[in-house]
Amino acid sequence: MTARRPLIAGNWKMFKTGAEAVEFARRFVPLVAGAGDRDLMIAPAFTALEALAGELKGTPVALGAQNLHWELEGPFTGEISPRMLAAAGCRYVIIGHSERRQHFGETNESVARRTRAALQAGLAPILCVGETETERNAGGTFSVLDKHVRKGLKNFVANELGALVIAYEPVWAIGTGRTATRDQAQEAHAFIRSLVSNLFNAELAGAVRILYGGSVKPENISELMAMPDIDGALVGGASLNPDSFAKIALFA
Ligand code: PGA
Repeated sequence: MTARRPLIAGNWKMFKTGAEAVEFARRFVPLVAGAGDRDLMIAPAFTALEALAGELKGTPVALGAQNLHWELEGPFTGEISPRMLAAAGCRYVIIGHSERRQHFGETNESVARRTRAALQAGLAPILCVGETETERNAGGTFSVLDKHVRKGLKNFVANELGALVIAYEPVWAIGTGRTATRDQAQEAHAFIRSLVSNLFNAELAGAVRILYGGSVKPENISELMAMPDIDGALVGGASLNPDSFAKIALFA
């Protein structure tokens, strides 16, 4: 019943110049030539988008961005618009990553605005949700996930969300080497999927891809992907090296 196509996405955060992105692509693309049954994506820094787009054109690897503003254009110094990302060749955009929530004042309300802007520009939003260690220890995981999903998708109707991807990224697992166990991840993913069903409908819940993120490596990708509600991965550190990211992309 799971007809969801896996998506393995790399989040390069504030790493790699345009030239370094090109060098990565020249090594990575040939390694994943046989990965036709899954979607692959790389989200570099804004300054590397155009250079990477040139390298990825005609390959199965899609381009993504790490953030966007909600207006199409205007006096917003330092921001990048959905229109610019689409013109640069992006298919996906990461929204509401915990590093943006933690360091740059991202709120569930701004996440909802960015998600709407992404969808209107034809970009697939990857909406990031997840609890901190303190929240988990206090038994608050599900209520945090509920808030992130409910408010991040406020005022949407199901038929607007066909391109939506959700990423469950427990904050305590990001960049720490402490991956959630497959059971912890599965439990959170199943919760998110049933929430999508309650908020929208069963059809959308069955179709939406839910990625796991937080210390994904070649060693743990297969066991995570074996879980019924884990449809892919959002990979930080291990996506910076072409060999390790290719091993993840080619999980069996
Ligand atoms: P990590 O980061 O793989 O380095 O833990 C994941 C993320 O922040 O998306």
